[in-house]
Amino acid sequence: MTDDSSDAPKTPAAPKKTGQAGQAMWGGRFSGKPAELMQAINVSIGFDRRLAAQDLAGSRAHAAMLRKVGVISSEDETAIQTGLAAIEAEIAGGTFPYRDEFEDIHMNVEARLRELIGPAAGRLHTARSRNDQVALDFRLWVREACERTVGQIQALQRALLAKAEAHADAVMPGFTHLQPAQPVTFGHHLMAYVEMFGRDAGRFADAKLRMNESPLGAAALAGSSFPIDRHATAAALGFAAPTGNSLDSVADRDFALEALAAGSICAMHLSRLAEEIVIWMTPQFGFIRLSDAFTTGSSIMPQKKNPDAAELVRAKAGRLLASFTQLSVVMKGLPLTYSKDMQEDKVPTFEGFDALELALLAMAGMVADLQPIVENMAKAAGAGFSTATDLADWLVRELDLPFRDAHHVTGAAVKRAEQLGCDLPGLPLSELQALAPGITEGVYAVLTPESSVASRKSYGGTAPDQVRAQIKRWKEILA
Ligand code: ARG
Repeated sequence: MTDDSSDAPKTPAAPKKTGQAGQAMWGGRFSGKPAELMQAINVSIGFDRRLAAQDLAGSRAHAAMLRKVGVISSEDETAIQTGLAAIEAEIAGGTFPYRDEFEDIHMNVEARLRELIGPAAGRLHTARSRNDQVALDFRLWVREACERTVGQIQALQRALLAKAEAHADAVMPGFTHLQPAQPVTFGHHLMAYVEMFGRDAGRFADAKLRMNESPLGAAALAGSSFPIDRHATAAALGFAAPTGNSLDSVADRDFALEALAAGSICAMHLSRLAEEIVIWMTPQFGFIRLSDAFTTGSSIMPQKKNPDAAELVRAKAGRLLASFTQLSVVMKGLPLTYSKDMQEDKVPTFEGFDALELALLAMAGMVADLQPIVENMAKAAGAGFSTATDLADWLVRELDLPFRDAHHVTGAAVKRAEQLGCDLPGLPLSELQALAPGITEGVYAVLTPESSVASRKSYGGTAPDQVRAQIKRWKEILA
């Protein structure tokens, strides 16, 4: 069952009962009614009603253009615009009758328009098909979703920046393999996520630029025989240009896939931060506190305070990846151009963006809420011989040892400290001199976590001044 015509609707004016087979807008060449199951699998109004605002915007631009090029009269255009405004008000007021028998949002709007203004409604679909209509509506929706997401990402970045600035010099262990590696600062660690989310925002902005072409006027698939002005509708709807190939316009959904790909990567970043919050919250780490606002208790264990919001953000990444996969699988075997499979593009996309929005908002809330327990972080920062690299660097700098030899001496020092049950700063000078005779008292100055981070002054390094410079740079970007 296809809708490849640009004809006027033949819908009866009176609303019908949901689920009843009636004569559909495409019903001219049909004498039988669709089976109930046909209707059940075909109907999309339950989810594509989320495209109502975009559908109305598209129709208003299309009607204005049809009048401008002389395809419809100005009386008809006025009636159509008045009717569409009334529908907009009904939707805003919650009184618009969404009806299953009109299948989707496009035919629901048109059927309602006919009830409100009469036969002139039938002229709106001139030089248009539901194929370019849905491609337009969906593109407008995804474009707005990308814009919204960039704003939500930036709000999260601002929360991270504020926290990073407050703790630009709070030392904590930096990890590789989740083993203590070298001391870093908490501010530096948070700024790593500011970078990641910055790239995520960039991906959404790029995707938006690429999708910013209007498919309206591609009609069913081949374009229109009417003298339509696609540049005018494109401009009216805020697109940079009309699309350049009518087949591609109705056949492709890569704009949604690209947005979901960006969403999947962003959700992956959110999930990593969520995982760190979960780890930092454990009594074993004890690096942060979350208030009651972002934790929950246990119904059986009274002592519990669980980081449920972080865990759920971590899990939402699965939804984004699922959405991307789902839409890829829907699209991958379709011959050009439109196939009804493509109606299944919307649910994964809506669900993906809903999940991402909630995850971004919850994460921004958690970041603002969390308080580092700086004494625990500092204590952990010195554990695990975390300043071993600083000792090796000192041997290179002060005794002119080749780095490989310095690495070997330092390894021996760690081994000795382990035997004596102390950390590196606690190792007596005589022990160090037994390994490398030239070592002097001056070495101890580089063995504390504070001196370690302060020494990492290379661009983008963890020295608090470098961290502050990056905070300043990002504040300017986000201003
Ligand atoms: N509800 C349809 C969708 O979402 C609209 C396009 C229908 N086009 C068609 N030829 N049947 O894809």
